Amino acid sequence: MSISDSLIQHADRLCRNEYGNSVFIRGLLEISNYCVMNCKYCGLRRDNFRLKRYRMTFNEVITAVERGWQRGIRSFVLQGGEDPELPPKALANLADAIRKKVPGNYALTFSFGTMAKDDYAQLKAAGVDRYLIRFETSDPDLHQQLRGTTLAKRLTAIEAVKSLGFEAGSGFMTGLPGYSEEQLYRDIELARSLDLDMAGVGPFIPHPQTPLAKEPGSPLALAVQAVALLRLALPKANIPATTAAGSLAPDGREQMLAAGANVLMPNIGPVDYKKLYELYPGKICLDEDGLTCLGCLAIRVKTVGKELSMERGDSHNLSLNKGKTA
Ligand code: 5AD
Ligand code: SF4
Ligand code: FES
Repeated sequence: MSISDSLIQHADRLCRNEYGNSVFIRGLLEISNYCVMNCKYCGLRRDNFRLKRYRMTFNEVITAVERGWQRGIRSFVLQGGEDPELPPKALANLADAIRKKVPGNYALTFSFGTMAKDDYAQLKAAGVDRYLIRFETSDPDLHQQLRGTTLAKRLTAIEAVKSLGFEAGSGFMTGLPGYSEEQLYRDIELARSLDLDMAGVGPFIPHPQTPLAKEPGSPLALAVQAVALLRLALPKANIPATTAAGSLAPDGREQMLAAGANVLMPNIGPVDYKKLYELYPGKICLDEDGLTCLGCLAIRVKTVGKELSMERGDSHNLSLNKGKTA
């Protein structure tokens, strides 16, 4: 058996020790594809003038959460670009409105990029429990070159989120330009040192309307190995089998679920908007209603001996408690 196979088996064992065979479902809502940032890898970058932009109304978001709740989903992730029309205050109002209109015991996760600590605090006060903000790459020079801003700023944001008592999530992409095994280990090391409650990794997939259009994309196997290493580094973290992996191969997400991942994030938003949230080409399930995906996913997880769980799926990592005393 190769090192890679035994690594994956070991990660799978660690994951099942921690979370059993459960795969937590997160209902994902991509609420706006406007972004002021210009990340060189991303199809939502502001200079992609060909992309039709959209922003869901508060009512559309609330209706989608309500539908998900009715269907039994107990964890929702709202994500968007850094949209000037959705400043922290508006996002806090949105969280507040969701909590009022859809009462109940469910987790609310936001992912809207870098903000000041006070802004994150506003979100927390409005009922947001978790925050996702990938560091993308741990290489400071590459980070600056690809994102036009510093890695340090991103890390400050992650620390702020942690210190406020959110469940904190971050992660990176494999196979960015100049990627090496050494770089993978540094990315894993950064994820570990951040003591993340949630950690996600996806393969870089070149988007034709970006400066990285002609770069080679990441092999899926590299992203799967990254999941296994993340599980070793952060045995108690929630780790998603990412949509990007499912976009590279029909069984990409299943490969991740067999390598230490324990979360799936089907998009439960309006079908018309899904196509427009084009971070990378070839995204899956563009014509499926997210609630249809639930049936499909239930069958898929069985192939790796797992089962779906609609529960909140709180992270077993302790940094949440550590944050509360900070
Ligand atoms: N390929 C794969 N993942 C991408 N992301 C953005 N662009 C791409 C791409 N071309 C990821 C980033 C971001 C997340 C929302 O999507 O890691 O944080
Ligand atoms: Fe905006 Fe995020 Fe895309 Fe960067 S990766 S351009 S911040 S949506
Ligand atoms: Fe969306 Fe299979 S996961 S249709």
